[in-house]
Amino acid sequence: MKEKLEQIKASALDVLKNASDLAALEEARIKFLGKKGEMTAVMKEMRSLTAEERPVIGALANEIRSSIENHIDTKKAEIAAKLEEEKLKDEVIDVTMPGRTQKTGKLHPLTKVMNNIKDTFIGMGFEIAEGPEVELDYYNFEALNIPPNHPARDTQDTFYVEDNIVLRTQTSGMQVRVMEKKKPPIRMIAPGKVYRSDALDATHSPVFHQIEGLVVDKGVTMADLKGTIAAFLKELYGEKTKVRFRPHHFPFTEPSAEADISCFACGGKGCSMCKGEGWIEILGCGMVHPKVLQNCGIDPEIYSGFAFGMGLERVAMGKYDINDIRPFFENDLRFLSQF
Ligand code: FA5
Ligand code: MG
Repeated sequence: MKEKLEQIKASALDVLKNASDLAALEEARIKFLGKKGEMTAVMKEMRSLTAEERPVIGALANEIRSSIENHIDTKKAEIAAKLEEEKLKDEVIDVTMPGRTQKTGKLHPLTKVMNNIKDTFIGMGFEIAEGPEVELDYYNFEALNIPPNHPARDTQDTFYVEDNIVLRTQTSGMQVRVMEKKKPPIRMIAPGKVYRSDALDATHSPVFHQIEGLVVDKGVTMADLKGTIAAFLKELYGEKTKVRFRPHHFPFTEPSAEADISCFACGGKGCSMCKGEGWIEILGCGMVHPKVLQNCGIDPEIYSGFAFGMGLERVAMGKYDINDIRPFFENDLRFLSQF
């Protein structure tokens, strides 16, 4: 019996040595130590031993059993450690690997120029006002000294919603809305969308943006208008930019002017961008008409003011040297990602 036990031990150790995974270990445990295993079979033969032999063989059997158990445990730990190591190897992060670049969105060029313009005017002490795009005829025309049948209505082809409700054709109505609510001193800009039934071409869109400006206080003069607008245009286009004012006509300002800047493409020599003129029209402006002040309950004998209105798309075209307005509205990423 002793030999049999030693033999079981030898073959168990041999099997365990070659076991390479947990399943093989379990198989070996059942084969040698299980209820129907080899050790149990031998132990059943203990009955046939003499009283002297029994304790000796019993002790040996216990020793062998625990030896096999120990080997199984050791092997189990070894295999577990190996599995753990492989798992860690799989999970290793190579911190020297180049990262994946994330595509970030960008601000639309019109938003950028708009923010730029807002910042400049906020820096000069202006507030920002916003108003409705669906506007009463009164604010878009009448209060601005443009009565029904006034020819100025024809120059801004209007989308009518109802008889006296329009899609605003200009942000100038905001002058009236602000003056009705606030008494001078007033310094505000009003940016927003405007609508005209203009055909889409390189410089016209039926929807575009304007930025209105208004300053009202005691003793405001044309010199203030020229100084403010020139400072703004130089900030936007660079110190070297020349600014000139041309007489013009708007019903709601008197006198009125249009401001041009020296062409950013040719510097004033004349090119296709400025149609050979050397100058590019940027905005309309003027001293607020006394009738408009009166319409808003402000006494023109005490207060005076100036106003201006510019087309954001034209400003952005100038700033980025773009000769077509349409890409601003087409959402082509090849265009937009350049800014
Ligand atoms: C006006 O709209 C006046 N309200 C401006 C003003 C404000 C004058 C305050 C005096 C005092 P005008 O119709 O010229 O003026 O338009 C102003 C600017 O809007 C133009 O210089 C041009 O830059 C832009 N603009 C006009 N029509 C279009 C269009 N269809 N597409 C894109 N930009 C346009
Ligand atoms: Mg004009």
